[in-house]
Amino acid sequence: MPPKQVEADPKVVADLKSIVGLDDKNATDLAGKSADRAAEVLAYFADHKISADTDRAAKIMLYATWTKTPSKPCRDYIATRILDGGLKSTQQTDAAVRFVAKKPVAGAVDAAYTAEFDSECGVGVVVTADQVKTEVMKTLRGMEPTSVKANWVKAQAGPFLGLLKKVDALRWADWTYIKTVVEEEAPKIAATVADEESSAAAATSAAAAAASAGDKKKKEDKIFLPELDYKPFMAAPRTWLKDLAQVPAGQSVTILGWAHKVRHQRSLSFCVLRDTTGFVQIVFEGNVPEFARETSLAITGVVKDEPKAAVDGQPPKEIKVTSFAIVGPSNADIENVVTADSGLDLQYDQRHIVIRGKAGANALKIRSFTVQAFREHFFSKGLFEVQPPTIVQAQAEGGAQLFNVDYYGEKAYMTQSSQLYLETCLSSVGDVFCILPSYRAENQRTHRHLAEFTHIEGEYGFITYEDLLSRLEDLVTDVFDKVIRRCGDLVAELNPEQLVDKDADPKDPASWKNRPSKPFVRLPYHKAIDKCNELGILNTAEDPVRKFEYGDDITDAPERQLVAHYGTVVMMTHFPRIMKAFYMQPDEKDPDLTESVDILVPGVGEIVGGSMRMIDYETLVEAYKKNDLDPAPYYWYTDQRKYGTCPHGGFGLGLERFIRWMCNMYSIRDATLFPRYMGRCQP
Ligand code: 4AD
Repeated sequence: MPPKQVEADPKVVADLKSIVGLDDKNATDLAGKSADRAAEVLAYFADHKISADTDRAAKIMLYATWTKTPSKPCRDYIATRILDGGLKSTQQTDAAVRFVAKKPVAGAVDAAYTAEFDSECGVGVVVTADQVKTEVMKTLRGMEPTSVKANWVKAQAGPFLGLLKKVDALRWADWTYIKTVVEEEAPKIAATVADEESSAAAATSAAAAAASAGDKKKKEDKIFLPELDYKPFMAAPRTWLKDLAQVPAGQSVTILGWAHKVRHQRSLSFCVLRDTTGFVQIVFEGNVPEFARETSLAITGVVKDEPKAAVDGQPPKEIKVTSFAIVGPSNADIENVVTADSGLDLQYDQRHIVIRGKAGANALKIRSFTVQAFREHFFSKGLFEVQPPTIVQAQAEGGAQLFNVDYYGEKAYMTQSSQLYLETCLSSVGDVFCILPSYRAENQRTHRHLAEFTHIEGEYGFITYEDLLSRLEDLVTDVFDKVIRRCGDLVAELNPEQLVDKDADPKDPASWKNRPSKPFVRLPYHKAIDKCNELGILNTAEDPVRKFEYGDDITDAPERQLVAHYGTVVMMTHFPRIMKAFYMQPDEKDPDLTESVDILVPGVGEIVGGSMRMIDYETLVEAYKKNDLDPAPYYWYTDQRKYGTCPHGGFGLGLERFIRWMCNMYSIRDATLFPRYMGRCQP
């Protein structure tokens, strides 16, 4: 479960900036996410007498060490070696981090340990300018000049640096200088190639020739360069990764996607490629330019059976690359955009990157299937889908939560609910539903409130209160089952704890502990108040906290406690009129109550709010008055009661809350593409 973000202490933020050298965003993020971690890093810097004046390069290396090395003796040892000038670069510090992970420091460090550390981390190694030049020239001259030219023209130093990263002799060299040498030498070699047009063509065939000749050469000599044009790959028949499991070994396939994981070795690179349907392991035999994670690639390769590859949803296959093209390079700083240490705010700032991850993408796919399941349910019951406007002048759910809009100089709002418009459709097309955004300007930053959410609303004509309740039971149970049948495997990746056992078929609704079953527990509001008091659930919305009284709203936390007691779906019914919206039909037996319902689910609380609607003209006009509403903007709503009313009712269901419940998500925000909540309207 991700940690909670709290208000950052300004003094700690200031120290993290001046002493540790973090920028404002990272300092605020770390201090807000965990005061303990912030105190720990400051103590580490204090232990090593780091001040605002210490060299910034050393601070960067120290901070990197702290984030990557949990053991105190290990990180202290590396710090000492940074500060005594032994470790001079981030390459060396990274090597040191890897070294202590393999051989942790325990107690005093002896000479043998120091010697091995120094040798593994390049302490004291000096790579002269001449050595750099010699190694760069060796690599460039080992390539076809046409290929050097073509790569230089397309991407300047980038592909060459990727190759040079694997040259042992350059391991501890100064990369700025290596780049300078490449920038001097590569154009000179390129200039020896006479005709630019023919050279580009030759470069392509040279790369292909190099690929096929590679088998004859020793593998470690093979330089495996990308094709310069990815369009031929796109023109070839595409194999989707979800279908690879059925492709026989030996067959050549063309696949397109993104480098989800990458590992480059000297003469071998591994990558897990992702397309929108799945993942597969890819092997490049030879020296490919080092490309970073999230690079988009076009690949042709031969399928091989590889049972060991069948992890994390990958098929038991591996693709041996025969040719490839880099469609869009990815910057190596991708590794730092979002890390395991990133706080929630940073994760939502970088949501466009986060959704590329498996959990993010699964949530969006489940969301798509869920919307589809709701539509299928409604269509199977003969409802029509309509699209009411979302900029409105008649509010439905109370003025405090309205976003105002300046509508050509007139006052208007973003809608809170499309219900009033749905009611107008009953005497036109019949029973209707809509799936549209609703907006609530709630002063809430909880994990179940959004400022913009997707509202699934339905309205039925000529029904009773009992009909409404049983239709809601049908809806929730049917949609749950439909989604599980369609994508239970994806739900299981997000919510494995709700499976009855780990080997249960996730696409079988019976495999799910949280599968709702009819009838739901029915709990009239006044009994819910009694139950809270009986269970010792307190009204935490009051200050001081107190027992519940009739008329109190059962807010987030107590509501979840109450439903946790039942451990299943609960329908709370018969709310008092004073608590609910103006349009709700009074209960026949007790006009102080309404024919209303909230559906509450374990872990989340309310996911549905619904009611029967007032059908009597006079009662509605009276209700406007009682609620201080000007009836003028509601003339079209009131007219429903003037021209042929009928008993009717409906509901609104928050799509994100439904998904949060089904997938046991930490926050409703994770069920949203780009969440909007108090304090966030980006990206
Ligand atoms: O209970 P509510 O306010 O009901 C109405 O808006 C009715 N007019 C709907 C109708 O009868 N057509 O909201 C209905 C549901 C809630 O149960 C909840 O699931 C969701 O909308 N919801 C929110 N979801 C996310 N963030 C918020 N701020 C939400 N407010 C309501």
